[in-house]
Amino acid sequence: MMNQALDTQTMLKQMAAHAAVERFVRSGMAVGLGTGSTAIHATRRIAELLASGELHTIVAFATSAATHDEAVRLGIPMLSDDLPSDLDLVIDGADEVDPALDVIKGGGGALLREKIVAQASRRAVIVADASKLSPQLGTLWPVPVEVLTFGWRSQARFLESLGATWTIRRTADGQQFVTDSGNMILDCAFGPIADAARLAARLGQRAGIVEHGLFIDLATDLVIAGPDGIQHRNRK
Ligand code: A5P
Repeated sequence: MMNQALDTQTMLKQMAAHAAVERFVRSGMAVGLGTGSTAIHATRRIAELLASGELHTIVAFATSAATHDEAVRLGIPMLSDDLPSDLDLVIDGADEVDPALDVIKGGGGALLREKIVAQASRRAVIVADASKLSPQLGTLWPVPVEVLTFGWRSQARFLESLGATWTIRRTADGQQFVTDSGNMILDCAFGPIADAARLAARLGQRAGIVEHGLFIDLATDLVIAGPDGIQHRNRK
């Protein structure tokens, strides 16, 4: 029963990612490749379409070292790390999506690079299964906050003062998680967030907080797969 549920969710993730590639990716584009168990299906689909010749002259840029390594392994031509030009679009996953297409990201720990890539893209397409839809950010998922290890307890106290209960992100074997940029992550449970834009602004002003997982006004499109099929929504 449990395996069947997992398989259905994986199938929905794949459906959303494939639909986004088919709808938005065209030959000649510079494409951002997202991170996580949904976005990886988009990366793999782009590689398949390049191999079959249905797509050509794509260049890509990854939102994490893990995605970069997989894209290279699949033979996708990659832009250099300094990102010489803006991207036509990025296709990435999300942990939680609200009705305005504001998003919590960073469940995989790649929030900093993901936000850099989203801000460098003309279009930011979120792909997800319907379990990620939420009436209000913070209802389903904590906000990941990437902090410098230097002075981190000061950031933890600041986050508490904003109403968060935090935990240090750890790997499956209990080690402290280290981001691609060498920082730590505090997962901050706020509960439903009344004003996510205001919270994002407060977090953005604090020295020592490198980045946070609130993506406000960044996603332009959502491709969501659920039991009733695939839906595409635009930011209004
Ligand atoms: C990675 O840091 C994240 O932002 C992912 O995009 C997000 O956690 C969604 O991941 P899944 O597609 O694996 O659920």
